[in-house]
Amino acid sequence: TELSKIRNFSIIAHIDHGKSTLADRLIQRTGGLSEREMSAQVLDNMDIEKERGITIKAQTVRLEWKGHVLNLMDTPGHVDFAYEVSRSLAACEGALLVVDAAQGVEAQTLANVYQSIEHDHEIIPVINKIDLPSAEPEKVKNEIEEIIGIDASNAVLASAKSGIGIDEILDAVVERIPAPKGDADAPLKAMLVDSWYDPYLGVVILVRVIDGTIRKGQQIKFMAAGTTHLIDRVGAFRPKIEQLPDLGPGEIGFITAQIKEVAQARVGDTLTDAKRPAAEPLPGFKEVQPVVFCGLFPVDANDFEKLRESISKLRLNDASFSFEMETSAALGFGFRCGFLGLLHLEIIQERLTREYDLDLITTAPSVVYRLRLTKAAGEAEARTIELHNPADMPDPNRIDEIEEPWIKAVIYVPDEYLGSILKLCQDRRGIQKDLTYVGGRAQLTYELPLNEVVFDFYDRLKSISRGYASFDYEQIGYREGDLVKMSIMVNAEPVDALSMIVHRGTAETRGRGMCERLKDLIPRHLFKIPIQAAIGGKVIARETIAAMRKDVTAKCYGGDITRKRKLLEKQKEGKKRMREYGSVQIPQEAFIAALRMG
Ligand code: GTP
Repeated sequence: TELSKIRNFSIIAHIDHGKSTLADRLIQRTGGLSEREMSAQVLDNMDIEKERGITIKAQTVRLEWKGHVLNLMDTPGHVDFAYEVSRSLAACEGALLVVDAAQGVEAQTLANVYQSIEHDHEIIPVINKIDLPSAEPEKVKNEIEEIIGIDASNAVLASAKSGIGIDEILDAVVERIPAPKGDADAPLKAMLVDSWYDPYLGVVILVRVIDGTIRKGQQIKFMAAGTTHLIDRVGAFRPKIEQLPDLGPGEIGFITAQIKEVAQARVGDTLTDAKRPAAEPLPGFKEVQPVVFCGLFPVDANDFEKLRESISKLRLNDASFSFEMETSAALGFGFRCGFLGLLHLEIIQERLTREYDLDLITTAPSVVYRLRLTKAAGEAEARTIELHNPADMPDPNRIDEIEEPWIKAVIYVPDEYLGSILKLCQDRRGIQKDLTYVGGRAQLTYELPLNEVVFDFYDRLKSISRGYASFDYEQIGYREGDLVKMSIMVNAEPVDALSMIVHRGTAETRGRGMCERLKDLIPRHLFKIPIQAAIGGKVIARETIAAMRKDVTAKCYGGDITRKRKLLEKQKEGKKRMREYGSVQIPQEAFIAALRMG
C-alpha cells in the first residue's frame, strides 16, 4: 500500500466509555465481519480481559475505508504493561480519544492521552453515547479543552451503540491523522510491537514496518536478540487472518517464522533483513524484567506436576513472566515466579486457578534486594547476593548492607486530591522531586522505593483520587535502606509464606496491620490463637483470636445421617483449601488478603 493511503491509530478511552463497542462498529462498518460474527466483541478476546474490562495484549485490525488502509491498534490499559503500551503508541500516528458524553473526562483517559501527546499523535476527540438522555456533549467538549488542553471544537459526536457518527469518525481518521513516513528503498527496519503464541501458527509477531519491505521467504534478523529466522507467513487481521505477499513502509501486520516461544520475540526489538541489515536498530528497545516475585505453591502437594506443566504453558505465551522451582519448609514444592507488577501476578494466578483448575497459595510478593554479606572466614572477598525470597534472608549478622530498588514516579492528579496523594507518597517513604501544573492538573514527580509501590500503591492512588490520578514509573537503580525481615507467627509457628522485608521505620505499622487482618481472616478454632509479627526474636505486634465458644459440629452427631455426610464432605472440601500451621487452619484466601495493606 502507498504510504499516503495508510493511517495508523489507537483508541484511548476510560473504562466503559465505549472503546470496544466503537472498535466493533468500525470493523463492522468497513465490512470486516457480518452481524452474526460481531456478536462476540472482537478486540477483547480473553475471558479475564473481558471480566476485568482491561486489555492485556495489544491487537490490531486492518480496515479499509474509501481507498485507504486504516490500522486500528488496541492497547493495554494498566501501568504493569506500560512498556507494551509505549511500543503500540510508537507504531501509530494518531488516536481517537473516546469520552463518554454523560461522564466526561476521567482519569484513565488522561494517563493515556498524555502518552499519546508525547508521541506527537494527532488526537481526534470522539464524544460517545450521545444517544443517552443525560448526554452533555458541549460540557464534555469544554472539559476536554480545559483538562487535557487540546482543541475539541471539531470533536465527532457519536453513539457506538446506535451507530451514529461512525462514518464521520472514519473520515476524520483519513483526513486528520497524518500518513506514516518511511523509505521503501532503505534496508528493512520493522518494530516488533507484540508477540503471542498461537497453537496453530506458533509465535505470531505483530510488526510495524518503518523502512523497506518485509516478505514471505525473507531471511530476517532480530537486532537485539541477534537471531535470524525465515519468514513463512506475512499478513494482516481484518480481523480474520489474511495472508499478504509483503508489508511495506508504514504498514502494520503480522509475520510468523516458526518461532516456538514468545521469549525469542521480545517487544521493542528491531527486525531487519539478514542479508542487507539496517545500520542501527530503532530506538527504545528495553528488555522488560520482572520486578515482583512471589512463591506459588499447590494447596494439594499432589498437584505439583500439574502446576509445573501449567506454568510452563503460560510462560510459552508470556515472556515477561519467569519461574523457577522452590521448596519451602511449610508449603512443600512450588515455584518462585517473577511478574511485571501485582496485576500481572493476579492475572497469572487467576489463569492457573481458572484455566488449569489449580488451588494455589501465593506467598508475600517481594522485590529483588541486593545484600552485601560480611566476609566469612576463608573468603577472599565479601559477597553480594540477590534476594528474591524473604524466606532466604541470611542471619542479620552476616549482612553488611541491604540495597533496594527505587523508582521515579510521575503522577497526574487534579488539585482537590493533591493533599491526599502527597500524604500517600510521604507515607511510602517518597522523596518529592517536582510539582508543576499542566492543563489544570498537578504533575508530581516522586522517587519511591519499589517495595512500597508494588503492593497496593496503584490501587490506593486510584481510590484516594476517585480514579482521577494517573501514575507511571521507571526504575532508577538501587539504594541502601534500613530493611529488616518481619516474620508472622500463628500459634507460635512462623508462617514463611507471610514473611516479608520491610523498612524498620514502617515495620510496626505494617506488622500491626497484618496481625489485625489475619485476626479477621483466620476462622476461630476450639482454642485461643495468638498472632504475632516479629523482627528477629522481638515481637512488634500481636493479636489474639478468641476460642470458639461451643462445638458447632457436636449437634450433628447422632442426628440426620445425610446432614452428617454433607458436613463431612464440606469439611473435606474445606481441608483442601486450608493450610495448617501449629494446628491452625488458614484459608487460602487469607494469604493474599492479608498482604493487601489497609
Ligand atoms: P472496557 O473494555 O471495560 O475498557 O470498556 P470499553 O471502553 O471498551 O467500553 P465498552 O465498549 O465495553 O462499553 C461499555 C458499556 O457502554 C457497554 O455496556 C456498552 O454497551 C455501552 N455503550 C458503548 N457505547 C455506547 C453508546 O454509544 N451509547 C450507549 N447508550 N451505550 C454505549
